[in-house]
Amino acid sequence: MNRFRTIFLGMIIATLCSHANGQPPQCDPTKVNSAEACAKCHSNEVQTWKQTPHFQTFEKLSRNPEAKQICKKLGLRSVKRSDVCIDCHFTTKEIDGRIKAVSGISCESCHGASGDWLSIHHDYGGPVATKEDETPEHRAARLDQCTSLGMRNTRDLYLIASSCYQCHTVPNEELVNVGGHNAGSENFELVRWSQGMVRHNYLRTNGEYNALSGLGRLRVMYVVGLIADLEFSTRATAQATEKSTYGLKVANRAARVAVKLYEVQQKIDNAFVQSALEAFAAAELRVNNSASLLAIADQIQIAGRRFAMSSDGSELAAIDELLPAPNTYK
Ligand code: HEC
Ligand code: HEC
Ligand code: HEC
Ligand code: HEC
Repeated sequence: MNRFRTIFLGMIIATLCSHANGQPPQCDPTKVNSAEACAKCHSNEVQTWKQTPHFQTFEKLSRNPEAKQICKKLGLRSVKRSDVCIDCHFTTKEIDGRIKAVSGISCESCHGASGDWLSIHHDYGGPVATKEDETPEHRAARLDQCTSLGMRNTRDLYLIASSCYQCHTVPNEELVNVGGHNAGSENFELVRWSQGMVRHNYLRTNGEYNALSGLGRLRVMYVVGLIADLEFSTRATAQATEKSTYGLKVANRAARVAVKLYEVQQKIDNAFVQSALEAFAAAELRVNNSASLLAIADQIQIAGRRFAMSSDGSELAAIDELLPAPNTYK
């Protein structure tokens, strides 16, 4: 039998599986403005972004021999004209009624398409109001409103983390099994992958320099990353229809991250982490089990968002030894 089993919390939770098209990254092309619309006020962030593979993939991917091979195996004519690659490698925008790839993975791929929130996310309370004038109530209402209009802002780290894992778990069975694409970035961990080349923390220093996040935030980020990984690995597993590379990899990833999160929970004893783990403990990681696994992923997501909004990291000192060292940041 092509089944694998994993022991977790003393229970057999995993039998084998594989995946297919997952949740596409949520970045509605009819609401995308593109990075140029951000540059006016966020030029430092744009400069930093241009140094990353997220930006560079737009020019480089179609010339990459490995990409051509993948397309060939999938019977696709070209990288730029194939919706499959565009989903994760590019940002698309509707121009004159047609959907066009306008850049690599951009601001809005991670922070959400800005059509509905761009004009209010920096509105401190009218045309002449400044940051100093803004009341805490106005600020809270503004950020809530932005979130409800699709912005993934830094107040809710879980939403931003979700962007990363939607792409970096590569939830596409055919792409992996037929195309031979990597089955996700296997060692993706949020602190390590967000605090190196991707980091663009200029807002908090008024543009003076690109700050490292503080210890409390890194702790929250580490736990949030594990919960989001668990959610999106479970979603990826939900797409598995055949017992092959994809299914094995994504199911193994889910089982592995659950063990890590369990270790964290031993140290922090947090109610939200507990509910994420309990939801996952009911998961049967096998092929063609989509409805059940997606329902479990939804429960993990609720726990993850609650965790992210409830913690400032001050109570999480027990996990400091687990945080990746700065010299390992990507
Ligand atoms: C007209 C100027 C302006 C433009 C254009 C602009 N921003 Fe901002 N942005 C700001 C200001 C000012 C703040 C700080 C708001 C505050 O103090 O909370 C900000 C804050 C942010 C934040 C941090 C808020 C948080 O809680 O996460 C993000 C993320 C962000 N902008 C993304 C974008 C993106 C993406 C674009 C382009 C689609 C963009 N901005 C375009 C002025 C702008
Ligand atoms: C579901 C998201 C997703 C889709 C769809 C996707 N990719 Fe990728 N791709 C990724 C991620 C994430 C990476 C980075 C993997 C890593 O960390 O090694 C990547 C990396 C690559 C690389 C290696 C890049 C390098 O610089 O070494 C190639 C080549 C590639 N993809 C080609 C393709 C092609 C061709 C398509 C369309 C047929 C495609 N990808 C569709 C997510 C995706
Ligand atoms: C829309 C899909 C998408 C989103 C969202 C996304 N990534 Fe990526 N990321 C990719 C792809 C695709 C690549 C590989 C690009 C290439 O080399 O062609 C990549 C590459 C990277 C790399 C470079 C890896 C290397 O070895 O060079 C880092 C670091 C990274 N991503 C971190 C992140 C983080 C952190 C987040 C979330 C905050 C994130 N990514 C969100 C698709 C995405
Ligand atoms: C790969 C995903 C990704 C991309 C692309 C991305 N961001 Fe971010 N952004 C993040 C993450 C993650 C954080 C929170 C980082 C932290 O707290 O250390 C963040 C934080 C921010 C902040 C707040 C920084 C601060 O000092 O608090 C602003 C403003 C911002 N981003 C704007 C932008 C703009 C503008 C672009 C495009 C040029 C962009 N981002 C592209 C993931 C991304």
